[in-house]
Amino acid sequence: MPAELDPVDRLLLDELGEVPAGRVAVLGDDTGALASALVEHAGQRVVAHCDSLVAERRVARALAGAAVGGEAVPTLAEALTDAALVVLRLPKSLDALDEIARTATLLGTADVRVVAGGRVKHMTPSMNDVLGASFERVHASLGRQKSRVLHAAGPRAVEQVWPKHRHHADLDLTVHAFGAAFAGTRIDAGTRLLLEQLDGLADTDGNVVDLGCGTGVLASVLARRFDDVVAIDVSAAAVASARLTTAGAVDVRRGDGLTSLADASVATIVSNPPFHVGTAKDSTPTLAMIDDAARVLVPGGELVLVYNSHLPYLPRLREVGPTQILARDRSYLVTRTVRA
Ligand SMILES: C[S@@+](CC[C@H](N)C(=O)[O-])C[C@H]1O[C@@H](n2cnc3c(N)ncnc32)[C@H](O)[C@@H]1O
Repeated sequence: MPAELDPVDRLLLDELGEVPAGRVAVLGDDTGALASALVEHAGQRVVAHCDSLVAERRVARALAGAAVGGEAVPTLAEALTDAALVVLRLPKSLDALDEIARTATLLGTADVRVVAGGRVKHMTPSMNDVLGASFERVHASLGRQKSRVLHAAGPRAVEQVWPKHRHHADLDLTVHAFGAAFAGTRIDAGTRLLLEQLDGLADTDGNVVDLGCGTGVLASVLARRFDDVVAIDVSAAAVASARLTTAGAVDVRRGDGLTSLADASVATIVSNPPFHVGTAKDSTPTLAMIDDAARVLVPGGELVLVYNSHLPYLPRLREVGPTQILARDRSYLVTRTVRA
C-alpha cells in the first residue's frame, strides 16, 4: 500500500514552481510519499536522504516501487551534491536546518533553491533567519491546512561550520556534532547522571553496547574501561558524530535498536534512550528496545538506563529481570536491570 501525501507534502508539491533540469534532493521525507511524488516530476534525478535509518528504509522501499527510479542515499552530502532543487520537510532542530542550508549552498548548483515545509505549530521565525544566513531571498507561502512552506533562493558565499566540536575538560573529552545530532556538542543532563554510575558496571570481556549513542559521549567513556564497545544509533548525523568523538576506539553502527544483534551476544547495555519520534513524544521505540534487551543480553547481563522519571519503563524493565534504581535527581532516574 503506497504511503499517502499529507498536507505538508501536498503544499510542498503545489509550491514547487518550475522543476529544474538538475538533481532534486528530498530531505526528511518520513514515509516515501513525497519522494515518490517527486519522481513523477523529476524521474531518476530524485535523490532522497533521511537522517533516520527507519525512514530511509521506508523511502527506499517506496522508490523501489516507483516506475522511473530515484534513490535513497545515506548521507546529506551525497543527496545535496549538484542539487538544483532541495525539497525539505523542516527538521525540528535549527542546527539541522543550518547544516542543510549551508551544505546545499556549498555542494548544490550555483542557483540551488530550497522549498521547505512543515506544520505551522512546529515552525518558528528563527527558521527564516537560519535559511537567511545561507540564502539571499527567503519568503513564506500562505498557510494551508495548518501547514506552511518557506522558499529560499540565491545562495550566499557561506562557510561550512559543521561538524562543530567542544572540549569538556571535566570529562577530558572532545565532543563532535553534526547539526541533527541530539544535544549537539553539549553533555545532556541525563547523560551526566548516567556517566556518574558507569564505575559501578560489572567487569566483562564481552560486548558493551551504547544504545542510541548520539554524539558518542557514553561510548567514549565506556571505551576507556572496556575493550569491546559497540555504539548504535538510527540517525546518520549521530553515527557520523560518534565516529569523530570516539576516534576509532568504538565500533559505531547505524542501526534500529538492538535488532541487528544476535541472541545472548551482549554483556552490558548502557543507554540514554530516545523519547521522541520526529517532533512527537513517543515511548514506543524505547519500550521495544527494553523488550529486545531480554533477547540480546547474556543471562546475568546488565541493562543500565537513564530516563525522565515520569516515563513508564519500570514495569517493562522488571519483565527483563530484577531492577534497582541507582540514582535519581529532579528529572531523571538511572536504573540497573539484570537479565534473569
Ligand atoms: C536521548 S538521545 C541520547 C543520545 C546520547 N546517548 C547522549 O547521551 O547524548 C537518544 C538517541 O537515540 C537515537 N535513537 C532514536 N531511535 C532509535 C532507534 N530506533 N535505534 C537506535 N537509536 C535510536 C536518537 O537518534 C538519539 O541519538
